[in-house]
Amino acid sequence: MTSVLKPAKLRLGVNIDHVATIRNARGGDHPDPVRAAEIVASVGGDGITAHLREDRRHIRDEDLARIQTATNLPLNLEMAATEAMLAIAVRHKPHAACIVPERREERTTEGGLDAAGLHNTLVPIIGKLKDAGIRVSLFIEASERQLDAALRLGAPVVEFHTGEYAHAHLDGNRAKTAAELKRIADMAALAAKNGIEPHAGHGLTYENVQPIAAIPQIAELNIGHYLIGEAVFVGLEDAVHRMRELMDAAR
Ligand code: PXP
Repeated sequence: MTSVLKPAKLRLGVNIDHVATIRNARGGDHPDPVRAAEIVASVGGDGITAHLREDRRHIRDEDLARIQTATNLPLNLEMAATEAMLAIAVRHKPHAACIVPERREERTTEGGLDAAGLHNTLVPIIGKLKDAGIRVSLFIEASERQLDAALRLGAPVVEFHTGEYAHAHLDGNRAKTAAELKRIADMAALAAKNGIEPHAGHGLTYENVQPIAAIPQIAELNIGHYLIGEAVFVGLEDAVHRMRELMDAAR
């Protein structure tokens, strides 16, 4: 008898950085990203993602421990490949660390990590994260060159940057949207074939999430800006719930 394997449930990691962005705009304690993490947990989110940037423009050091004690959800810490961030990660021991490229002047993470070009920098950082029991993920473009580099670096997880796909979708460029989607789907299949768990994220919205969610090998989506933006109008609970519905329907 042949059995048809259904793809595993797709996890939703909610990036709560921009709750902290709003908080920091006034310098006080409100709105508190910890409260956002609690709501995500109560509404069935699968994880909390937070990016501790070098300039601390949103999440701050003290937020990490508060988020970790507030919920049982796994914390995915996005971090630059620096000694300072490594020390913080090892101290806090998040469930996962996603290594991202970081330039101080960028508005958000533009483009993926050059895992191929940074091989020698990444080897010790990945080694120390692994020694601390932290699951390492690399935020890369969906390309064979970067995937091959992730494989050589022994990364158990890659997160494919969906920014180009999201831009093409927004521009109404159907050919480019389809090409970007194919690139991500092909690389997700190749990653899974090589024992790497593929995730995806950046720029995902209610309108563009479903074709990405339908890629059977992708195990997790990390979504932030759009969900926090929607939460301003409908509340975080409803925004996460709606995203979850769309993801599940696409699977
Ligand atoms: N995944 C990674 C690695 C990111 O750096 C970001 C942006 O911080 C996201 C996902 C979420 O992107 P967005 O905020 O556009 O949903």
